[in-house]
Amino acid sequence: MKKLYAVIGNPIGHSMSPIMHNDLFSFYQIDASYLPFQIKSEDLKDAVDGFKAIGIGGFNVTVPHKTAIIPLLDEVDELAASIGAVNTVVNENGRLKGYNTDGPGFLKGLQAFMSGAASKKILLIGAGGAARAIYFTLAMEKPDAIDIANRTVAKAQSLIDDCPYSVKSEACTLDEAGRKLGEYDLVVQTTSIGMAPKIADQPLDLSNIKKHSHVCDIIYNPLETKLLQDASNRGANVQNGIDMFVYQGALAFEKWTGIFPDVERMRENVLKQLG
Ligand code: ATR
Repeated sequence: MKKLYAVIGNPIGHSMSPIMHNDLFSFYQIDASYLPFQIKSEDLKDAVDGFKAIGIGGFNVTVPHKTAIIPLLDEVDELAASIGAVNTVVNENGRLKGYNTDGPGFLKGLQAFMSGAASKKILLIGAGGAARAIYFTLAMEKPDAIDIANRTVAKAQSLIDDCPYSVKSEACTLDEAGRKLGEYDLVVQTTSIGMAPKIADQPLDLSNIKKHSHVCDIIYNPLETKLLQDASNRGANVQNGIDMFVYQGALAFEKWTGIFPDVERMRENVLKQLG
């Protein structure tokens, strides 16, 4: 019998996940469909109960439900519980178990470009939900340090205080981070600064950037943010947000099917949709 997979969020119309996963199901000859469902917060419990009743194979969860879904699931894995956000649910013999593949997806994308985060001095820009998933995941990789720069420094400090994994970290302003940018091997931009339509915006000045450092922006619209253009002009290696998106999807697909899919195929598919 055909299996159902889904993504729930609000809004959900622009999600590229259905096209990405349906292409994989057809490519790997798996009899399944992946559909988007726009679910209001007050309907979340009914949606989850309904998914369970119909024996859904699994689903992705996006804004604004990533945290609210946690108490509605039968089980949540340790990383997702510590992050406090679930983006992937797997139906494991009738029990719905939540995972977070956003942080691990970022890490896998990073490892496709460089050795990873171990022993690196890292600057994380932003302290929202995406930063939290990435920070906790990178903290487990034994980096030298991960400093967090944010417009609201207190939020960066709370993120540091919340992290259950041992890592050397300091909170600072965006200006302070700009001044000591030469210390960092890896810079990870997680805010919406520079996202379309405000593509002229950039979170910090890159004058002091370390030569040959690696700069990631998790934004993929535009594919090259002002920050990445500037970093690239100054000799840094740059990586946009397509990788995190594709790898979080690949890790979800693997949890559902046992197959780690062809990420190049996924990337091409996403790029085609972005035009
Ligand atoms: P997400 O869950 O997508 O990470 P979020 O939780 O809304 O989104 O977090 C947004 C992040 O972008 C925060 O770090 C926010 O800074 P504050 O904590 O000071 O609010 C940052 N951010 C968004 N717009 C910004 C702007 N115009 N200037 C500086 N920081 C901004």
